[in-house]
Amino acid sequence: MTGGGFFGRARSRFRHQLLDRLEGMAARAPYPALPGIGPASGSRPIGIAIVGCGFVADFYAACLPAWPMLMLRAVHDRDDARAAAFAGRNPGVTVASLDVLLADPNIAIIVNLTNPASHAAITRAALMAGKHVYSEKPMALDIAEAGELVALARARSLHLACAPCTVLSETAQAMRFAIARGDIGTVRLVYAELDDGPVHQMRPQEWASPQGTPWPWVDELATGCTLQHACYHLGWMTIMFGPIEAVSGFSRTLDPDKGLGPIAPGPDFSVACVTFRSGVTARLTCSTIAPHDQHFRVIGDRGELFTDACWHGKAPVYLRRHSDTTMRAEGFPVIRRHALLRALFGLHGSLSDLSPRATWRERIARHQIDYASGIADLARALAEGGEPVMSGERALDVARAVIAIDGAGS
Ligand SMILES: NC(=O)c1ccc[n+]([C@@H]2O[C@H](COP(=O)([O-])OP(=O)(O)OC[C@H]3O[C@@H](n4cnc5c(N)ncnc54)[C@H](O)[C@@H]3O)[C@@H](O)[C@H]2O)c1
Repeated sequence: MTGGGFFGRARSRFRHQLLDRLEGMAARAPYPALPGIGPASGSRPIGIAIVGCGFVADFYAACLPAWPMLMLRAVHDRDDARAAAFAGRNPGVTVASLDVLLADPNIAIIVNLTNPASHAAITRAALMAGKHVYSEKPMALDIAEAGELVALARARSLHLACAPCTVLSETAQAMRFAIARGDIGTVRLVYAELDDGPVHQMRPQEWASPQGTPWPWVDELATGCTLQHACYHLGWMTIMFGPIEAVSGFSRTLDPDKGLGPIAPGPDFSVACVTFRSGVTARLTCSTIAPHDQHFRVIGDRGELFTDACWHGKAPVYLRRHSDTTMRAEGFPVIRRHALLRALFGLHGSLSDLSPRATWRERIARHQIDYASGIADLARALAEGGEPVMSGERALDVARAVIAIDGAGS
C-alpha cells in the first residue's frame, strides 16, 4: 500500500516512475552489432540464377549489388519476353532455358521467384539437379509436398532456404536479442497482426515495380492473405521462440467479390493460436480486409517489446516496462487518450537504438526489405558451414503452420 493522503500517494507514484525510468534506461543499453551474414570478403563469388522474372525479381535485383559475393549469372521465366526484359535491365545476365540453367556448373544457387503454385516443381527440379535453393514463400502449397522437398534436400546434402528474409532484419534481430537478454522477463504471449488493408479496393491493377513490372494482383488475391503473409510473423516467432508445437486456426473469405472474374479469391481473413515448444503462445491475425496493421507485440512478465512494421527492416523496437503505475494508468481512458498523460505515465515505452541507424531515405520508405539478404545468408552457410537462418527445417515448421491455418476454414 502507498503512504496515506494525496501528497503521500503522489510522492510514491513519482518515486515509482523515477525507478521505472532508470530501469528503462538501463534496459536501453545499445544492442550489439548484428552478426554478419553473407560470405566473408575473401571467399569466392557464388553463382546464382533466378527462375521467375516478375514483380519481386526487380526488388531482388535492386538489392543484389549490396552483396558482391552473389553473382547473378542467368535467369529463366516461362514468359520469354519477361526473362529477356529482366536480363536487359541487368547487364551481364543471360537468359537460359530451365534445363540449361540447371546444368550450368557455375550456378550453385537457384533463386525460386515463381508464383506459389510453381514453387514446389521448380524447387524439386533444382534439387534433383544438385543445386541449392532459395525459395520465395510459401515453400509449397501442400504440407506433405513441403516435407518431401526438405527431405529431398537433406538426402542430397543440399540447402533449401526459404523466405521471409525479414527474419534477418535489424528489427527482428534487435527484438530477438532483447528477449534473450531478459529485457521483458519470461515471455508468455505474442499478439501479431498482419492486416494489409483491402487491397482489392486500392486499384492493385495499377501497382508496378519501379521497373514497370505489374504487381500480380490476381494471383496474390487468389492465393489469399494467409499463404502470402502469415510466414512473416511466424518466421519471426520461430527465430525468437523455437519450434512450433501446435496450431489452431480459423480462415474465411469474407468478401468473395474482388473482381477476379472466374478465379475465386483465397481467404482474406484468418486468425490462429500457435503454441511453441518453449511454452510461448501467440495469436496471429492476417487479413486483406482490415486497414493496415503490422503490430507485433511480445509480452513478458516484466514488460512488452513491440514494433509496428514487419516489412521495414529498420523499424524501431519499443520497450514498455510493466510496473504497478503503468499497468494501473493504462486502465484510465483519460490517460490513454492524452499524449501528455501517456508520456507522463510512461505508456509510450522507449525507443530502441535501432532508429538512429536508419537514414532518412530508409525511414520514409514504405517497405524496407533487403531481399538478397536471405540468399547471402545461404551463401554464408555454404562458405562457412552451418545452416541458413531460415533453413529447410525452420521453413518447413512455418510452412506447415501457414498451410494448416489457411485450410482451417474448409
Ligand atoms: N508481390 C510481392 O509484393 C511479393 C513480395 C514478397 C514476396 N513475393 C513472392 O515472390 C513470388 C513471386 O511473386 P511476384 O510478385 O514476383 O509474382 P509475378 O507473377 O510478378 O512473377 C512470377 C514470375 O514467375 C514466372 N513463373 C511462374 N511459374 C513459372 C514456371 N513454372 N517456370 C518459369 N517461370 C515461372 C511467371 O511467368 C512470372 O513472370 C511469390 O511467391 C510471392 O509470394 C511477392
